[in-house]
Amino acid sequence: MQIVILKDAAQVAEYGANIFIEQIKNKANSVIGLATGSTPVALYQELIKKNQQNKVSFADVTSFNLDEYLGLKGDHPQSYRHFMGEQLFNHIDIDVNNTHVPPGDAKNPLTACNAYEDKITKAGGIDVQLLGIGRNAHIGFNEPSSGLTSRTRVKTLTQATIDDNARFFAEDEYQPHLSITMGIGTILDSKKVVLLATGEGKADAIKDMVEGPLAAICPASALQLHRDAVIVIDEAAASKLADTEFYKHIEAENQKLIAHLANLK
Ligand code: PGA
Repeated sequence: MQIVILKDAAQVAEYGANIFIEQIKNKANSVIGLATGSTPVALYQELIKKNQQNKVSFADVTSFNLDEYLGLKGDHPQSYRHFMGEQLFNHIDIDVNNTHVPPGDAKNPLTACNAYEDKITKAGGIDVQLLGIGRNAHIGFNEPSSGLTSRTRVKTLTQATIDDNARFFAEDEYQPHLSITMGIGTILDSKKVVLLATGEGKADAIKDMVEGPLAAICPASALQLHRDAVIVIDEAAASKLADTEFYKHIEAENQKLIAHLANLK
């Protein structure tokens, strides 16, 4: 894991956005994996800004979102399809036909899950997958106890996740307790993963993910097995790590190596 500890949420968003921008500059028809929640919003704003300044184009990009609420149609205001339109797709030059979010209204969720996996495979796999992390260390909607090699499937949400997401729903509004989510195995198949986390509320999950044992109770710990996982966090989310100075030292050395390699070109 590459651990990048930055001052605040704005720096985290900018760092994360730059990974996607570089990826798309190097490969115009990149396949990117996207996420919902509060954390990615600032990163999406960076992408929108750079697209509007003509610094990056999404015209040939294909996207796959991690998850969707089961039971909500894509035009439902609380659906993740709707969220993605509002937060990103409606503001950039991506072809909406090339954007994929699991179908929350699928008549047969099981075949829909398999079809989603097939679409990712046919697109050539995901080049870079964006992730947030739940306070319970879920990635996507892979809740604690998820299989570490799981594929896209229907997942029941924990009460903790339902409570965390209740802020997006009106008091008397129906809040789904099921989802379709890429599995942990699906996420691990991405060529690169970029996980963003900010704020003290994520500090325990980050500590367990980075330094704890590989365990189904901490789904994000599966990223310890990924060969190109970048964890971009602010000081608050890093505050429970055992030795933040060491992680900062590693990253400084890493940046020196990158600069050295750039000079060789
Ligand atoms: P958040 O959600 O960005 O809204 O904190 C992250 C997640 O649950 O994956």
